[in-house]
Amino acid sequence: MIKVSVDKLTEIEATRELKQLAKKLARHNYLYNTEDRPEISDAEYDIMWQRNLAIEQRFPELIRKDSPSFRIAGPILEKFEKVTHKTTMLSLDNAFRKQDVDDFVDRIRRFLRLNSDYLFDFTAEPKIDGLSLSVRYENRRLVNAATRGDGMIGENVTENARVVADIPDVLQGNPPDVLEVRGEIYMTHNDFNALNRRQQEAGNPLFSNPRNAAAGSLRQLDSSVTADRVLRFFAYAWGEVSKMPADTQIGMIDCLHCYGFNINSLTRLFHDVTGLMGFYNEIEEKRATLDYDIDGVVYKVNEIALQNRLGFSFRSPRWAIAHKFPAEKAITILQNIDIQVGRTGALTPVARLKPITVGGVVVTNATLHNEDYIRGVDSDGISSIRNGRDIRIGDTVVIQRAGDVIPQVIDIILENRPFDAVPYVFPHICPVCSSRAVREEGEAIYRCQGGLICSAQALERIRHFISRNAVDIEGLGDERIEFFFRSEDESITIKSPVDIFTLERRQKESITKLERIEGFGAVSVRKLYDAINARRKITLSRFIFSLGIRYVGEVNARRLARHYLHYDAFVEAAKNAKVPQDRRDNGNKAWQDIISIEGIGSTVASAIVDFYSEKHNTEVLCKLLKEVNVFNEEYSALSNSSVVGKTIVFTGGLRRMSRDEAKAMAERFGAKAASSISTKTDLVVVAPGAGSKLTKAKELGIRIIEEDEWFSLVG
Ligand code: IVH
Repeated sequence: MIKVSVDKLTEIEATRELKQLAKKLARHNYLYNTEDRPEISDAEYDIMWQRNLAIEQRFPELIRKDSPSFRIAGPILEKFEKVTHKTTMLSLDNAFRKQDVDDFVDRIRRFLRLNSDYLFDFTAEPKIDGLSLSVRYENRRLVNAATRGDGMIGENVTENARVVADIPDVLQGNPPDVLEVRGEIYMTHNDFNALNRRQQEAGNPLFSNPRNAAAGSLRQLDSSVTADRVLRFFAYAWGEVSKMPADTQIGMIDCLHCYGFNINSLTRLFHDVTGLMGFYNEIEEKRATLDYDIDGVVYKVNEIALQNRLGFSFRSPRWAIAHKFPAEKAITILQNIDIQVGRTGALTPVARLKPITVGGVVVTNATLHNEDYIRGVDSDGISSIRNGRDIRIGDTVVIQRAGDVIPQVIDIILENRPFDAVPYVFPHICPVCSSRAVREEGEAIYRCQGGLICSAQALERIRHFISRNAVDIEGLGDERIEFFFRSEDESITIKSPVDIFTLERRQKESITKLERIEGFGAVSVRKLYDAINARRKITLSRFIFSLGIRYVGEVNARRLARHYLHYDAFVEAAKNAKVPQDRRDNGNKAWQDIISIEGIGSTVASAIVDFYSEKHNTEVLCKLLKEVNVFNEEYSALSNSSVVGKTIVFTGGLRRMSRDEAKAMAERFGAKAASSISTKTDLVVVAPGAGSKLTKAKELGIRIIEEDEWFSLVG
């Protein structure tokens, strides 16, 4: 669909589009982060995200409370001991076109308030397609190695890292006392081919690509298996460092090299987008000749002082970006279309494909998104996509796979269409519970109306509750939870989250013993109970996330936890809040309080209110809270900051930083940055030109300080 160029949009069009984009991006974020089943590629996500950003930049006054600004979350494995990273292992935002790179550089300039003639450098280096690892050294010695996991908690793979030749046991040169080196574990094509030859000879399954082979080899409980596979490591970043040995990215990388690490010899320095694009093209050409897989290039601001000022938003640094190579495509036959029902009742069409290898991975399923997508219509219901070509069973289809995103059908080859292929009719009933499936006004998705009677929804809700980033119960995998869910035995069945925590008690009183059931055994049952009991204490943000409230993914759960601090306070707000009925209605105090949270808009707030107004939900929660203890996570890293927990408003024309930088800084020190003054405001930082906000702050007797005082306050 051709979109109106952003500089031609009227304010009304921009408002409408921002609303649509917020909704779409929230949904795709949710599918990606929460349900782990993205429907669109990173490239498409990024196009939408960038357009949203461009519109917001042109119309800053239209920026929505629920403006999309975050991404990413990856699961952690069960087998290894968990390690909490001292500093989060960041992920990267993606760029796909030159324009995205231009925008990245412009964003940095704006954030740092740099003039266009102020030159600063970027490093550019290949983006290795492997898995990231953090290796910690104390007094030169390797003490710990951990995978990225979800960025905050990874898996302890120290023993395996020790057998990787590229990872020194003892550092050379003059390293800092504490040094966490971050980089990518990968396998060369040569070693990968040799490994697969050995696998074949031994009758073992083959690895589909070097990345999977590297991941499978690093995540071995027996490190002698890892030692048998040749793994490599490129160092490109760092975590905790007791004393920085250099003040630039390139300087740090050189130091890592001196300490004994391999660094990528293709790394270069540039000071403008032309240079970066030249590098991108050069590396794309070289790609086929390299002995390791890469999927793009990474640009990083060279000066570490600037990196620190830029900081990061959620899980990606503002000072780096991955410029990805185009996604890989392939052609195959669409053999069937199945409908999957998600936990919110959404019906998603899934293409069953004649198996095909795309970028080294065998693909049998791909998403078809929704009814309109199959019909060849954009989600506005009017404009056409694929020139209006619909998708039919039997069609020859073009599929695309980018990274770990679920592959998608992007086009069809009309000339190959079988003469008897008929248009696909989207079902109007749920294939699982036979309830009506309804597509609401303005929505692209059909939703099963079965609610509590739809077993697919109930099962998916439990799956979400126990998923890794929610309550995270080990030993309750997909098959097991389905077994418990389907069981009609009262001492075994798990039909809601509460049943998980009552399982052991119910079993004690029962004569049907779980350990006698095939696939269980006494040891595994004990382990399961231990895993369940270990989760009776759970942090507030995980708990809120685990409830599966619509639009409340991990990031929003954290925002809510940070704002309310205690579960009771959150519930009280959710139960008391009144959703505004029309444009003149502002809702009550509790409503205002929820939407005052940065990043929480009325869509999310309404979903929270709806969730708590559903009697069934409150009943389940009441029982659940008798089983689990929800505690507030401490923001210990920030506890020595004098502004931790405070709500701060910046007003006027700040001299030393942009408004965005000021807000980011407040958040870094554990404070909440708000845009308007209320009785909840603790501190107002004023600069010349401050107007009504200053007056209101004075009226309310709020502490007012100037910009310089702010810097002394946070040290
Ligand atoms: S820098 C804060 N540099 O890409 C810096 N990452 O998509 C964080 N990756 O999680 C990463 N090559 O696993 C960086 N040269 C490179 C990289 C690289 C590959 C991976 C890394 C990261 C992922 C983000």
